[in-house]
Amino acid sequence: MGIHEKMDVEFPDLTDPRSFVEAVPHEAFARMRALPGLYWQPTNLGTANGGFWAVTRFADILAVEKDTDAFTSTRGGSYPGMNQSPEVAGMSADNLMMTDPPRHSHLRRAAAKGFGPRVVANFEPWVRDIVNDVLDRLETLDEFDYVEEVARTVPARVVARVLGTPREDEDQLVKWALMTFEALQETVNLPEGTHMIRGLHKVMMEVMPYAEKIQKIKREHPADDMFTELGACVDRGELTQSEFFNWMFLMMVAGFETTHTAIGQSMRMYLENPTVAERTERAIREGIASRAVDEFVRMISPPMEMARTATRDMDFAGEKIRKDDVMVLYFTSANRDAAVFKNPDEFDPWRTETDTLAFGSGVHRCIGAYLANLELRVLWEEIHKRKIKLELNGTPKRGWSVFINQITALPVRRVAS
Ligand code: HEM
Repeated sequence: MGIHEKMDVEFPDLTDPRSFVEAVPHEAFARMRALPGLYWQPTNLGTANGGFWAVTRFADILAVEKDTDAFTSTRGGSYPGMNQSPEVAGMSADNLMMTDPPRHSHLRRAAAKGFGPRVVANFEPWVRDIVNDVLDRLETLDEFDYVEEVARTVPARVVARVLGTPREDEDQLVKWALMTFEALQETVNLPEGTHMIRGLHKVMMEVMPYAEKIQKIKREHPADDMFTELGACVDRGELTQSEFFNWMFLMMVAGFETTHTAIGQSMRMYLENPTVAERTERAIREGIASRAVDEFVRMISPPMEMARTATRDMDFAGEKIRKDDVMVLYFTSANRDAAVFKNPDEFDPWRTETDTLAFGSGVHRCIGAYLANLELRVLWEEIHKRKIKLELNGTPKRGWSVFINQITALPVRRVAS
């Protein structure tokens, strides 16, 4: 225990949401990046060997994500969702995020073409309509919660449109997505080295009959949406029903919470920091709103980490890695790695180092990256065009999470422009 106690004093407990609730512990991550090897976080929750390696440097994360033979996703894609109870693991085994190539390539192919840059560019008119609809409603409010009115609404409506679910179900989709991320904090240790995410199983059991219902409707009334396309893949025998369900569940969850966080946290940064505000405005005027969005997403890193598991003993980054060791890849740290980014804590839409790890890398790199950038860009452009001026009207509330850089409330009021 001696070494663990020493580390606990030096570094925050990365398994404890309290370490993240005030803010992401960037100063501690900077010290971890400067260690000669990797930082070992002791924990029995979701790990086989009594802890996990915190991978905090940009180059080390690239190396882990590149080598899918040595580092598998099949035991879980993010912490603490690793080594789940057989009940939950069984239901998630067909989830894209929890597969390795070649199976991963097969599953990803089913929908990836729907999210390429050229296809997504065609989404712009309807994304703009959604954003304008949401902002029209804001014009009627003087004091409101930006998370509730904007950060939740825009991504929920965009995801619903991509999936093809009815408008009246949007609140339900948001509830399921939020329940999933809340569930990720309610972990319970089970005896045989696995653990259970209470609630995750419950959400899946609710989403499954819903997905089947929409799948049936789309079979009779096909449309240009994901339910129709992937439902047709099932009918042609290209996807199993379980793979189809996991795709839908993943889309509901991955397409919502991340963008929700990016929208809420970017407005918080803008309102709290005059330099960020001035540079955002300037970037929009210069027609590079998309670069301002990239900078927001880099600095926010909505999922703070993803994770992999070692498939064999090996030497890596100066450490002896054992088979079954969990590697937690802290994108939030790598995105401020001074070996890659000049003045990493500075919001700089004109920086030339533009490759970030906010969307991950390698075969699992986020499928929705272009769509997310589009949503945020259009939102910031329209806020600018309408000259919407806001100020903080209370203390922003952070989420209770070791995984997502969540913001749960951002009270604001309108300022006369
Ligand atoms: C700012 C918003 C977003 C951020 C920061 C983000 C970030 C990420 C990250 C870090 C990963 C894991 C990559 C890895 O393991 O290397 C990921 C995967 C994924 N994301 Fe996103 N995401 C965002 C928005 C979206 C949207 C809008 C969608 C859907 C429309 C989406 C769908 C997915 C899917 C399906 C995967 C799994 C890909 C795979 O395993 O092959 N994401 N995302």
